[in-house]
Amino acid sequence: MNKKIRRGWKKIRRGRNNPGGLLSALKPTRNRGIRIKPKRARVIGIFSCKGGVGKTTTAANVGLCLADYLGNDVLAVDANLGAPNLGLHLGELNPSVTIHDALAGEVPIEKAITKYHGLQTILGSIAYGDEIHLIDLGNYLRPLRKNYKVILIDSAPGIGAEVVAAMKACDEMFIVTNPEVPTIASTLKTFRLAERFKIPIIGVVVNRVRGEPFELPIKDVKRALGWPIIAVVPEDARVRESTAAGVPIARYKPKSRAAVEFRKLSEYLIEHIARS
Ligand SMILES: Nc1ncnc2c1ncn2[C@@H]1O[C@H](COP(=O)(O)OP(=O)(O)OP(=O)(O)O)[C@@H](O)[C@H]1O
Ligand SMILES: [Mg+2]
Repeated sequence: MNKKIRRGWKKIRRGRNNPGGLLSALKPTRNRGIRIKPKRARVIGIFSCKGGVGKTTTAANVGLCLADYLGNDVLAVDANLGAPNLGLHLGELNPSVTIHDALAGEVPIEKAITKYHGLQTILGSIAYGDEIHLIDLGNYLRPLRKNYKVILIDSAPGIGAEVVAAMKACDEMFIVTNPEVPTIASTLKTFRLAERFKIPIIGVVVNRVRGEPFELPIKDVKRALGWPIIAVVPEDARVRESTAAGVPIARYKPKSRAAVEFRKLSEYLIEHIARS
């Protein structure tokens, strides 16, 4: 045993009798009368007034990448109650239990959790045709907070009641947009909604960037929206291909630039959570 290792062992042994030693630090805390703080998930929403910009693609990919780092401490929730499709992005057309079942009180919310590609999810029912009533989503998710570090919420487009319900359930949110003038203009509405409900915005994901001359340059998107750009994801036909295959690009083509961007975004979020 070299000197360094021997010194280490001495330190550990000292701990058996000595409260300052390393072993005592590893003792179960109940022995010392200290309560472990319950885990409390950060609820992060993904929003955009405009449909089809890539909210669900981002939710599925960032969810998977976060789960690669945090395992079962991540949950992705489909809060697009009118037209849920997070399941489709994950290859599930007909989930056996859904958020609609939980909201209807037919199952406890914990029973609506299923796992796809290593990501825990609460999916929606594509077949659900009834009217969506105003719900307190935050209240439904509350019992789950202790079980996760991050809960991602995939929202519907627009600024209607279900978007408001999803937004009010969030601790923080980010916005997905495309580099086109009409999309940026309608994205401003989402910022206003966030302001109204005082939900902090982490930043903006600019998705489907083609680099075409008529696109809004990223610096102009930043100037127009006034928030940091936290990811720039290129337009890539393989993203659509991956959606059709029901396997997010982060798994489907993990080395593609889009997949790398989603991974970098999830790393950014992990650092952001650790910092704040
Ligand atoms: N970077 C990309 N490159 C190419 N296609 C993309 C990219 N991002 C998303 N798409 C495609 O765009 C389509 C719409 O994406 P998605 O469902 O994520 O949008 P959305 O914002 O969630 O839509 P909705 O508002 O209807 O919920 C999907 O077919 C998806 O594969
Ligand atoms: Mg969607």
